[in-house]
Amino acid sequence: MALIDKTEKRIMIASGAVMALFLFSVLYAKGKYKSDVPECIPYNKAYTEPRVNKLDDSTYQVFAVAQMWQFQPSEIYIPVGSEVDFFLSSKDVVHGFNIAEKNVNMMAVYGNINKTTVKFEKPGVYKITCHEYCGTGHQNMQAEVIVNYPTRH
Ligand code: CUA
Repeated sequence: MALIDKTEKRIMIASGAVMALFLFSVLYAKGKYKSDVPECIPYNKAYTEPRVNKLDDSTYQVFAVAQMWQFQPSEIYIPVGSEVDFFLSSKDVVHGFNIAEKNVNMMAVYGNINKTTVKFEKPGVYKITCHEYCGTGHQNMQAEVIVNYPTRH
């Protein structure tokens, strides 16, 4: 008698195929559309101190910390053409981190650091909004990336 019956085997093969397809799609999108796939990086307390680090004239790191009901830093000033690594964490509950104009969609989770990289080629004010319900102040939870002055060449 087989340990797993035929139906079970079929289901396992089918779900394996679905997972493989999903993984393939993500990698395909990453390559073809150059979309940056957010990643979860090892937890490090250093990332939970809100700040903006300037690495050079066009490369920045933002340690974004979400908490009820604000993001810190709440205003991020960078020059046009900057590439920004966002390291996201939460001080309390689960929050969202959405930059609609840049297709950024991340979760801020206590005890976790999520990272994504965004390039800001055009000047403007990019709204960061919390898109995960987190309590009574949820709808006011936002921050801004202000891209308003040119890089020197
Ligand atoms: Cu934070 Cu909704």
